[in-house]
Amino acid sequence: MPAPDPVEPAAVLAHWLASPAGQDACVAAERVWSDAAGDPLRAGSALRASTALSPAEAAAALEQAALRQQARERHGIDADTGLLLTRDGLEAATRPRVARHRAELVRASGAARVLDLTGGLGLDTAAFLAAGLSVTAVERDPVVAAFLAHNCPAAQVVRADATDPAVLAGLLADLGPADVVFVDPARRDPSAPRDLGTARARPERDPELWSPPWSWVAALPHARIAAKAAPAFAAPDGWQAQWVSVDRTVVECAVYSWPVADADRSAVIVTDDRVAVIAADAIPAAIAPAIGGWLHEVDPAVLRAGALPALAAAEGMQGLGPESSWLTGESPADHPALRSFRVVERLQGSAREQRARLRAVGVSRASIKCRDVRAQPGQVLRDLGLAEGPDAVVILTRLDGTAITVLAERYQARS
Ligand SMILES: C[S@@+](CC[C@H](N)C(=O)[O-])C[C@H]1O[C@@H](n2cnc3c(N)ncnc32)[C@H](O)[C@@H]1O
Repeated sequence: MPAPDPVEPAAVLAHWLASPAGQDACVAAERVWSDAAGDPLRAGSALRASTALSPAEAAAALEQAALRQQARERHGIDADTGLLLTRDGLEAATRPRVARHRAELVRASGAARVLDLTGGLGLDTAAFLAAGLSVTAVERDPVVAAFLAHNCPAAQVVRADATDPAVLAGLLADLGPADVVFVDPARRDPSAPRDLGTARARPERDPELWSPPWSWVAALPHARIAAKAAPAFAAPDGWQAQWVSVDRTVVECAVYSWPVADADRSAVIVTDDRVAVIAADAIPAAIAPAIGGWLHEVDPAVLRAGALPALAAAEGMQGLGPESSWLTGESPADHPALRSFRVVERLQGSAREQRARLRAVGVSRASIKCRDVRAQPGQVLRDLGLAEGPDAVVILTRLDGTAITVLAERYQARS
């Protein structure tokens, strides 16, 4: 573990948290946190009454209890292993299932070592280690570096600025040609103004303002670079890219400077029990002359990767138009990238006529899907005289350029 910086009280506290005494305090803090149902005042008094911790130690242990709860509930991270976390580090951490997919690709391409230049709390590092790779992880922040060393004891942790040419040259010298440099640049500046509601620093969209900047990553003098970028990243030519989604949200654009997949662009859909990869190809999607008995909402990672035509062809479906995010067919889909809706009827005429028709068929509550058209769900609900509700679904989209409105029912796959 890197030595604590004696002038940094936060780093000293971080090292205490990683010690057996600090870990015992975290266990006690998790107990009182749960007993106090997450009330920080009650939990703080209970912890101080039952231990001899200083106020700073008690506060640090309780913060770990709160962050571990958040890690489990919001990020799917197993925090029972005594992970040490920071608020910003948790926001930036890769979800374990996504990190596992990346680590397996890197392992399968013949690497034995990974140099993780932006280790953070070590979620990617841990996945590389679990895949059987040996890992050197670099982290410049003293607190995060201490937590990284605690969270990933099998990694060699280097507390340094990875962009320091002397540091970098020494680390790259240890790699073989099949080994991989991994970079997950920080996209939120910890000192930037915070969002009032979430207390999170806003993410930076310009890849040149990431730390390290994208141009620095792209110029690294090593053959195999893997990087994690923002979902909206414009992956450069010559790099393979995978847009990864979890729970129908694109969580990252993963890029690789060498071939890791059959296609240069693909979508990766990560669910609890499987990873589905949909490779983009150059074929255009067949356009349906009319909507069929079913509409299928396509995962946004497939759209970002340009893989909708390939998915349509593989599933025997047709598109609704070149820009549409829907497919249509005659049966429900059994694919993690598709959510199916049974078409009840196509609503005709003006909003007033559609409103009357909905009333006539007894629909008073619905959810609105209108990603392909310029419309706000709240306004559509008002125009159609509906309340928000799960009973029915009204889909506004385009069929070969013409706006259409469809009344549909959500398909519940039998498990
Ligand atoms: C997005 S986080 C990495 C998250 C990590 N992949 C995970 O899943 O836990 C980026 C980390 O890189 C660190 N960092 C940013 N610039 C750095 C640099 N020049 N050298 C070393 N570390 C750096 C930040 O302090 C931050 O902890």
